[in-house]
Amino acid sequence: MADTKIQLLSRAVPANPTGNYSFHEKSLLIPHETLRREMIYGQKALEHYDPTAHPWKALCFHTWLMEFLFPAIHGHHELEENVFFDYYKKLGVTFPDKQTDDHKTLMASLRQITDVSRRILDLVSLGGNNTEQVKTAVEELRSIFNTFVTHMDDHLNEEEAFWPAVVEKHGEVRKHSISLIFFLNALILNP
Ligand SMILES: [Fe+2]
Ligand SMILES: [Fe+2]
Repeated sequence: MADTKIQLLSRAVPANPTGNYSFHEKSLLIPHETLRREMIYGQKALEHYDPTAHPWKALCFHTWLMEFLFPAIHGHHELEENVFFDYYKKLGVTFPDKQTDDHKTLMASLRQITDVSRRILDLVSLGGNNTEQVKTAVEELRSIFNTFVTHMDDHLNEEEAFWPAVVEKHGEVRKHSISLIFFLNALILNP
């Protein structure tokens, strides 16, 4: 029978061979591991991204960015700030400002990615002799997307190193479950 265990991508939470992660770990890992996998799919798609030869790839990548990745990450950050962070702040928990500041920097990078992707889509839609322009823009897109994934992964790891102990300590499972549901909504419903 095939091994159905999924490899943990987090560097902050130790891999558990049983797959039975605690609630305070899962509440971070469920949204974060989903985002990590989606970003890896994006990187793999860009490895084979040749919109001059295959213009449909520009449309597919841009649609995925605008209708899934951008709203999923934006929704995740918003819910952290408005529900998750806010809830624990009210319990007297202090946490690094960097976590919220990172959200702004990451969203600015993601907007830059969507701008370049849009530019590529426009160039291939226009047709004509713009192969070199498309090639340059594709290199730029690959580079800024890979940099974004590295920063985003660092951010997710920083949260995973900090929050599980806080959640475990305060352990108000019922209220925290509500924020978990909001996280899932962001990932599943926002597109
Ligand atoms: Fe965050
Ligand atoms: Fe997060």
